[in-house]
Amino acid sequence: MKVILTGDRPTGPLHLGHYVGSLQNRVLYQRQYRQFVMLADAQALTDNMEDTAKVSRNVLEVALDYLAVGIDPEVSTIFIQSQVPELAELAFYYLNLVTVARLERNPTVKEEIRLRGFERDIPAGFLAYPASQAADITAFRASLVPVGEDQLPMIEQSNEIVRRLNRIAGREILLEAKALVPKIGRLPGIDGKAKMSKSLGNALSLSATAKEIRDAVKKVYTDPLHLKVEDPGHLEGNVAFAYLDAFDPDRDGLEELKACYVRGGVADSLAKARLEECLQELLGPIRARREELSRDKGEVISMLQKGTELAREEAAKTVCDVKSALGLAYF
Ligand code: TRP
Repeated sequence: MKVILTGDRPTGPLHLGHYVGSLQNRVLYQRQYRQFVMLADAQALTDNMEDTAKVSRNVLEVALDYLAVGIDPEVSTIFIQSQVPELAELAFYYLNLVTVARLERNPTVKEEIRLRGFERDIPAGFLAYPASQAADITAFRASLVPVGEDQLPMIEQSNEIVRRLNRIAGREILLEAKALVPKIGRLPGIDGKAKMSKSLGNALSLSATAKEIRDAVKKVYTDPLHLKVEDPGHLEGNVAFAYLDAFDPDRDGLEELKACYVRGGVADSLAKARLEECLQELLGPIRARREELSRDKGEVISMLQKGTELAREEAAKTVCDVKSALGLAYF
């Protein structure tokens, strides 16, 4: 069976952007593929050494988000990155298969350096995290990686490492992987910025209360030129409609609403009322399930422990292959 490897840095609760970006695909594909879902706590530390508790605290929160949206631990293996030392071991070797210049050119890393304002003071581990991400993907022989589109350069760089190692080994030790990105593209933030992100303060978390959902919908950016109800409205850049595209199950109703809005005669408040209805319906059951699961944290921890043991076994096989390909098999 083909393998999926995917994951998130646990630095805060997951939000609607994660849901559209990758969680939906993970739920959808988990029965067709052998899926590993990783809580990337070690990667999260690359820029959180001043607040390590934030990372460890959020491991359980993100695990609850995974379970609440329907990632099923009976078929998916959920595990914690830092507890699989084989991943660090692989990353150590892969670091010799990338150059500093290539890491500096990685568009995802570049953008994240800009967002964090590192300038010249980039933690070395942060700059090098594409090598660790390549370790994550290859350790499980994954061929598919469901992620948001901002992660595409990561998969590309991982595949470069795979090709270099296979060339050195003279045979196919590692597998190249493909990204699985959502058709709908990236979900904008509620303020209209291109990306929903907790640090930008424009996210709606999957565990939001009914009131938080209501308040967020009120703030959703629409069309600044649509002043009177009868004015024609614009859909481009209109976050209310971007979200309806993502979350309204009544596709015909939505097309009709859009046509009326563009023609003029539909108030923003009407579109927002429909949006609120859709979001309450989507998030209500997720929130309820999350609350129920969080009553027995011990059970979640033991699920993670089992998943992590399984992940270690898988990763150990790849470490063994890579080390012998590099001539590091002495006994
Ligand atoms: N970089 C991913 C993020 O931004 C997390 C991650 C770490 C990951 N390793 C991975 C995703 C491997 C997919 C595959 O959250």
